[in-house]
Amino acid sequence: DLANALIDTLPKAELHLHIEGTLEPELMLELAKRNKVSLPYDTVEDVRNAYQFDCLQDFLDIYYLGMSVLKTERDFHDLTWAYLERVQQDGLTHVEMFFDPQAHTDRGVAFETVVAGITSALEQAKREYGITSKLIMCFLRHLPEDQAFEALDCACKHKDHIFGVGLDSSERGHPPEKFERVFAAARSEDFVPVAHAGEEGDSSYVRGALDVLKVERVDHGNRAFDDPALIRRLAEQQTPLTMCPISNWRLKGIPDLAASPVKKALDAGLLVTVNSDDPSYFGGYLNDNYRAVHDNLSLTEGEIVTLARNSFAGSFLTGAEKQVQL
Ligand code: ADE
Ligand code: ZN
Repeated sequence: DLANALIDTLPKAELHLHIEGTLEPELMLELAKRNKVSLPYDTVEDVRNAYQFDCLQDFLDIYYLGMSVLKTERDFHDLTWAYLERVQQDGLTHVEMFFDPQAHTDRGVAFETVVAGITSALEQAKREYGITSKLIMCFLRHLPEDQAFEALDCACKHKDHIFGVGLDSSERGHPPEKFERVFAAARSEDFVPVAHAGEEGDSSYVRGALDVLKVERVDHGNRAFDDPALIRRLAEQQTPLTMCPISNWRLKGIPDLAASPVKKALDAGLLVTVNSDDPSYFGGYLNDNYRAVHDNLSLTEGEIVTLARNSFAGSFLTGAEKQVQL
């Protein structure tokens, strides 16, 4: 039908995508063999059977284990290329991609290796598919502030390839205030700030991201709906939210897809976008997430078009670049 045709063919940007969360079980096992890394899985089926989560932390434990197979520049290139090849068929024309360098440098993989592998695939996608991109380095919020400063020092040597900074990993107990100084330093170095907020943490984490970290976009933001004044503010300021419906469902942030806040966000006039987060782990790429909200929230075709337009409006493309895409 028309809605599905729109979902498949509309140009779309993805604004909330962890490249390490695109590691498919087949590639994981291949890289484990190539790099002689031992995993607690023998088959693709073993890997997929492990993907049952009751909360964010259940997922993160498996996610950090899975990425232990990534060692060389070629590995990061292959990972990134596999994602880009997959989503170019879905009408994706622009991606703002997160990566988690501390999860690699902690295992002895050089920061430069990670950035070089991801960047070469992004450049190839620009040449071969015309896909544009921005790379956003996330700080792991469960680790101490001084280690985030070390990651920021590394990023400063790669300003030509790293556009922004983000904040991810275990949310509750690690509020935005813990990273106030790191974000101030990152902003003064001209990195554009974003942060995960209100995925599991309460609405004060969303306020903290805005007021303390001074983010230009909020990743998830679900719990903002517990605070009507905050929703009015997000609507007035048109702060983009990058929501991830299938992720929320698989991590039990919502009981079912019909409980996704995407429709409420549209109705409240928010600049809401739909994204995949960690598509390999949650079983849905970008268009699967659009279909999930269309089917479960009874979105109109007009609302599907709005979501696709919002994906560019909420991106960090410049005004002129957005005009071309919209
Ligand atoms: N790292 C990868 N995906 C994440 C998510 N959805 N929330 C927090 N940290 C993450
Ligand atoms: Zn995320």
